[in-house]
Amino acid sequence: MKKLYFLFSLFLIAGEDFISEFEYGQMLYKNPRGISCAACHAENGEGKEIVSYQDDENQTIIIRGVDIRSHSLVEIEAIVARNHPVMPKYYLTYEEVEAIYFYLQEVNKESK
Ligand code: HEC
Repeated sequence: MKKLYFLFSLFLIAGEDFISEFEYGQMLYKNPRGISCAACHAENGEGKEIVSYQDDENQTIIIRGVDIRSHSLVEIEAIVARNHPVMPKYYLTYEEVEAIYFYLQEVNKESK
């Protein structure tokens, strides 16, 4: 009986670890290193307005997180690792960027 309990708890632990590649990518897209891509590029990477303000000459300036649904894996990998004026620089592994890319592809399958 003891043995059975042991096996059962192993199963539970293994079960908790089991998330799909899609869920992993989704989790990363929503919260990579504490700053969500979704905060600036919207739920599915379609892009959105981050902030707008009036400058000194009363012009409206809009800062936008661009649409990132059609960027390739290679492009995204290079972009996240670079310095930008607004977007943070991320130190993500290749597997993490790949998972984010996979998530964006999966979630936007229908709109293609
Ligand atoms: C604080 C807001 C912010 C966050 C968070 C953010 N981005 Fe961005 N991103 C931007 C803005 C603004 C641009 C466009 C201008 C620029 O390059 O800074 C951009 C540009 C991009 C581009 C395209 C650049 C081009 O020139 O076509 C990609 C791809 C991208 N982001 C991916 C990501 C991914 C993936 C994440 C999460 C790991 C992320 N971004 C997080 C604001 C953000």
